[in-house]
Amino acid sequence: MKRKALIAGNWKMHMNTADGCRLALDVAARKGTSSDREVLLAPPFTILKEVAYALKDSGIFLASQNVCWKEKGAFTGEIAPNMVKDAGGSAAIVGHSERRQIFGESDVLINRRVKGALAGDLFVILCIGETLEEREAGKTFDVIETQIREGLACVSAEEMARVVIAYEPVWAIGTGKTASAEQVQEVHSFLRQLLEKIYEKDLAEQTRILYGGSVKPTNVDELMALPDVDGALVGGAALDAESFGRIINFQ
Ligand code: PGA
Repeated sequence: MKRKALIAGNWKMHMNTADGCRLALDVAARKGTSSDREVLLAPPFTILKEVAYALKDSGIFLASQNVCWKEKGAFTGEIAPNMVKDAGGSAAIVGHSERRQIFGESDVLINRRVKGALAGDLFVILCIGETLEEREAGKTFDVIETQIREGLACVSAEEMARVVIAYEPVWAIGTGKTASAEQVQEVHSFLRQLLEKIYEKDLAEQTRILYGGSVKPTNVDELMALPDVDGALVGGAALDAESFGRIINFQ
């Protein structure tokens, strides 16, 4: 079965309004019309609305970089699913390794975010991935299995239609070190089998699994050619229109 590719650009804590809108328009200008792929951008919260406005009619989707599980209330520093939608977003990245590593977000907290985003009618990009220490200790599969089982706890098969998984080995993020094609395919195929175990075969076949971690114009074609890779979550290279333009136009 052919899954539609998704190339997502995570701008992290970069870009002011003018630079973000310019970058978004430059990306839109490079986006082709082929129906086999989708493009998504995740700007900082503060410019989501302006970027959405710049991108209207472009067919590019917008996501927030995180999301709360509540619709409103006393949650200082958080953003509700309806606020993401109000600003023009239709998705949220959840469980990025920077949230896990730097801000101490646990699988339990991430699961709340996933469920809240789904209840709030958003799509979710759930990020998972092992650290270098975990990989070297031979714990990669255990770690990602726990992250998937706990991150997706109580997420129904029906809701899974709005979930995309992003496998991002922590040691490959922002380091210039990409996992090898064999390492990526091995984990992605493990993930698909795991989804089949938790849910069922059709769902596992339909779920998109992205790779993230130093995706660049020079390695995107090889990664996208892997049978279980359905897209990419791009950080650094998404901040440059030429690089990201080449990535979204992978062969
Ligand atoms: P990178 O970031 O492409 O800069 O490695 C990827 C990510 O954090 O999603």
